[in-house]
Amino acid sequence: MKTVSRIQTLQKILAPLRGKKKVGLVPTMGALHEGHLSLIRRAKRECGCVVVSLFVNPLQFGPKEDFKTYPRDLPGDRKKAASAGADLLWAPSVEEMFPPGHQTFVEVEGVGRRWEGASRPGHFRGVATVVAKLFQIVRPDRVYLGQKDYQQTRVILRMVRDLAFDLSVRICPTLREKDGLAMSSRNQRLSAEERKAAPVLYKALRNGEALIREGERESRRVIQRMEEVIRSEARAKIDYIALADPETLEPIDRIAGRVVLLGGVKIGAVRLIDNLVMNIHE
Ligand code: PAJ
Repeated sequence: MKTVSRIQTLQKILAPLRGKKKVGLVPTMGALHEGHLSLIRRAKRECGCVVVSLFVNPLQFGPKEDFKTYPRDLPGDRKKAASAGADLLWAPSVEEMFPPGHQTFVEVEGVGRRWEGASRPGHFRGVATVVAKLFQIVRPDRVYLGQKDYQQTRVILRMVRDLAFDLSVRICPTLREKDGLAMSSRNQRLSAEERKAAPVLYKALRNGEALIREGERESRRVIQRMEEVIRSEARAKIDYIALADPETLEPIDRIAGRVVLLGGVKIGAVRLIDNLVMNIHE
C-alpha cells in the first residue's frame, strides 16, 4: 500500500489504471476501527484498486466541536488500512484540500436540514463540500459508506444524483461492539463509566423496533418508549430521537412501509448517533 498526501501524486498513480480497474473509494477521517475496515474489505472484494482517503475535514466541525481533539493516528491507520486491503492511503493536509482563498461550497437542502443538520449547523455543508471534492479528485467508480451515519448517506446520495456524479454508492451495515454500541472513532474518548452507559442508545432503538414489531403504529408512542429507555441512563442526554421517512428524513406520524429510527445522544462530552431501518410488511 502506498501512502500519498498530494492530489497530483494521487492522480498520477490513478491515471494509468482508469478504465482498466474499478476504482473504489472509502472516505474516512481516520482513527480507523473495524467499521471502517469492513468498508475497505468490501471495496477490496469489488474493486481492483481501493483508495482510502483520510482527512479530518475542518469544514464539517462547528466552532465548539472537537476538530482539534478528534483522534489522529496516521501510523496506526496505515497498518490497519493496508491489512484490510487498501491499495492507496491518501492523507492530504488541510492546505492541500482547502488552500487559502477556497470559497466554493455544496449545500444539499431538505434531507440535510433536520436531526444532525439541526444539531450541527453547517455540518452537512462541510460533508457535501469535502465529499464532492474527494469525488472530483479520485473519480471513483464505487464509493463505500457506512449506514452508521444514516443521514450522511442520504445527503451524499442526493448530491450524487443532483450533481450527476458518475459513480455508484454502496451503503454498508453498521458494525457494533458486543454490547451493541455502534463502533465510532469517538468511542475512545468515553471514560470507563461513560462507556458502560453508551449502549443505551442502541438499546432504545431496539426497544422502539420491538414495539413496532408488536404492532404499534403511532410514532409518538414509539418515541416515548425510546426516550424512557435513554432517560433510565443518568449519563445520557437526548439530542433527538425520531422516526422518519428513510428517503426524505421527514418525521412520520404513522408507521407504514419503511421507517428509520434515529437517535443522537450525548454521553458526557461525547456525542453518539445510531439508527435502525425497518421494513414493515402488512
Ligand atoms: P468517518 O466518521 O471516519 O467515517 C468514515 C466512514 O465509515 C463513513 O461512511 C461512516 O459511515 C463509516 N462508519 C463509521 N462507523 C461505522 C460503523 N460502526 N460501521 C460501519 N461503517 C462505519 O463519516 C465520515 O468519516 C466523514 O463525514 C466523511 C464521509 C469521511 C467526510 O469527511
